[in-house]
Amino acid sequence: MFRVNPDNLDLILLEEAVWVLVGEVNLPSYDFSLSQFFACRRPWNRPEQITAIGRFGAVTNYDELYQQLAADGIFLVHSPEQHLLASELPRWYPLLEGLTPKSFWFSEPPDIAILEQTIGLPLFLKGSRQTSRHKAALSIIRSSEDYYRAIKAYKEDPILHYQDLVCREFVQLRPVPSELTEKIPASFEFRSFWWQGQCVGAAQYWSTSYDWNQQEQKAALLVASEAAMRLNLPFVVIDVAQTITGEWIVIECNDGQESGYAAISPFTLWQNLIAQEKGLFGNKKLG
Ligand SMILES: Nc1ncnc2c1ncn2[C@@H]1O[C@H](COP(=O)(O)OP(=O)(O)O)[C@@H](O)[C@H]1O
Ligand SMILES: [Mg+2]
Repeated sequence: MFRVNPDNLDLILLEEAVWVLVGEVNLPSYDFSLSQFFACRRPWNRPEQITAIGRFGAVTNYDELYQQLAADGIFLVHSPEQHLLASELPRWYPLLEGLTPKSFWFSEPPDIAILEQTIGLPLFLKGSRQTSRHKAALSIIRSSEDYYRAIKAYKEDPILHYQDLVCREFVQLRPVPSELTEKIPASFEFRSFWWQGQCVGAAQYWSTSYDWNQQEQKAALLVASEAAMRLNLPFVVIDVAQTITGEWIVIECNDGQESGYAAISPFTLWQNLIAQEKGLFGNKKLG
C-alpha cells in the first residue's frame, strides 16, 4: 500500500465508453497496458463530472484521493465508504456471513483461551485487510505457541501492525499441486470480478496448474454471485474456494479497482466491461 498523488495518474476514455484513471504499480499481476489493446483517448474537453475506475493499486490515502479527484469532477466508482466495505473484513463480513468462514476481529490480540472457546484450533489469522504476503506461519495457527509467535510478528510487521486482528475458523480446502514453501499452500481457488453485478472475468487464483470443469465453475460462480449481490458494489472482486468436502465458500472480497488479475485475462475482462457499458447502460452512465 502506498500514497498516490492524483497528478501522477493518467485519465483515459476507453473505447468511448469507460473512464479509467491509471497509475502504474510495477506488478505484472496488476498492470495492464490498455492502450495496447483498446482505443484510448485523453480528451481535453471532458464532461464536467465523470465516473472513473481507478487502476492505481492499493493506496493508503483512498479517502483523501477520492475528495481531491471529486473536487476536479472525477468520481471514483467507489465512495470511500464503499471502498472500505469491499476491503475490510469487519465491514463486509456481516453481509457475507454464512458464505464465508466464521470470523471474529479484535483491536488488540485476545488471549488464546478466548479463541479456543470461540473458534477452536487450528485457526486462520490475518489482518482485517490482508495477510502478510501469504506467509503460512503468520496465518495457520495450530497451537498456543504458534499464536503468540504470530501476534508478536504482527506487531512488528509493516503490513499487519496497523490492521485489526482477524481470527477465522480454519477450513480445510481442496488442495492443488503446489511446492512446499513458507507460503500458504495453494488450493482450488478462483478469483472473479463483478462489474455492476455481472461477472466480467473469473479464473485461477494461484499460479499453479489446476482448472475447474463446467459444473465446478457453475457452482463456484453461483456462490460468488450471491456474495456480489449482497455487497451490491459497482466493481467488486470475490475469491471463492472449494472445501475438501466439495462445498464452495467465499475466502474474501476486495475492491476491483485495486485487485490483481490473477489468471484472468485482463483483455477479456476489459472487453466484457466495455461491452456491458455500451450494451446495457449506453455511453452516458460513465460520463
Ligand atoms: N479460513 C480459512 N481457512 C483455511 N484457509 C484459508 C482461510 N482463509 C484464507 N485461507 C487461505 O489463505 C489464503 C490467503 O488468505 P486471504 O484471506 O485471501 O489473504 P490475503 O488477503 O492476504 O490474500 C487464501 O487464498 C486461502 O487459500
Ligand atoms: Mg486473498
